[in-house]
Amino acid sequence: MARLKERIAVVTGSSSGIGQGIAARFAQEGARVVINYIGDADGADQTLDTIRKAGGEGVICKADVTKMDDTRKLIDVAWQTWGGCDVLVNNAGMEKEADFWEVTEADYDKVLGVNLRGPFFLTQYFVQKLLAAGKPGRVINISSVHEDMAFPGLSTYCASKGGIRMLMRNLAVELGPKNITFNNIAPGAISTPMNASLLNNKAELDALLENVPLGRMGTVEDVAGLAVFLASDEAAYVTGSTYVIDGGLMRSYHEQ
Ligand SMILES: NC(=O)c1ccc[n+]([C@@H]2O[C@H](COP(=O)([O-])OP(=O)(O)OC[C@H]3O[C@@H](n4cnc5c(N)ncnc54)[C@H](O)[C@@H]3O)[C@@H](O)[C@H]2O)c1
Repeated sequence: MARLKERIAVVTGSSSGIGQGIAARFAQEGARVVINYIGDADGADQTLDTIRKAGGEGVICKADVTKMDDTRKLIDVAWQTWGGCDVLVNNAGMEKEADFWEVTEADYDKVLGVNLRGPFFLTQYFVQKLLAAGKPGRVINISSVHEDMAFPGLSTYCASKGGIRMLMRNLAVELGPKNITFNNIAPGAISTPMNASLLNNKAELDALLENVPLGRMGTVEDVAGLAVFLASDEAAYVTGSTYVIDGGLMRSYHEQ
């Protein structure tokens, strides 16, 4: 049975990786999906093609999540095309590696802009539309194990993901009375373009997998299955939580 029938979803950054997997899986489960991209139009077409081949419906919207007008466009396109928007997946993200003492203001602004400021104002507009229409809604943020776990050399990324952890908790409390739920998915190491250099470096990959009790990288399908649950009726009473999906990485410590 389709678990997301009648749902209308926006998935940011859905021209690749985890976002692409979530958009495709949502459509398979009956949702209509706004596919978002910033530079990779071919990737967005590929997502739409996958959705259509599965008999689903999607619409593509180019938008930079760091720009207010663009973020409004993302939600508006769902309302204009299908008359609503019930689910927002804040997935678009980026990282920039640098020792803390070398982080530039521009890098800080870029990483925090995409990973925290973008979701903040996109969520605000999504919520404004729901409140005006008196409708319930779901927000799912793709954060990271680094909303909780330190990663030297990625201070901007960790600050942004820690920020979205607290934002999610705060909004779950503030908007629970309006029946809008907020949850985070915190992936560990997932095979996506973001990890291209890791996947191409066998020694580094083997060292990482030593720390993953399940002994493999996660897949976008692993993450998409969890997102379907959080968007579905089955998760009606779930809000204010982070769901870690990391093959056991966060609980793993061993000495050589
Ligand atoms: N791959 C992993 O191991 C992993 C682990 C933990 C968390 N995550 C998180 O998962 C999310 C998806 O990452 P991914 O691994 O699929 O990598 P990815 O690089 O394939 O996806 C990131 C997407 O965000 C989009 N994006 C970047 N800046 C944007 C902007 N300003 N406006 C709109 N879109 C923008 C990119 O175009 C891309 O499609 C990110 O938030 C990332 O932090 C990934």
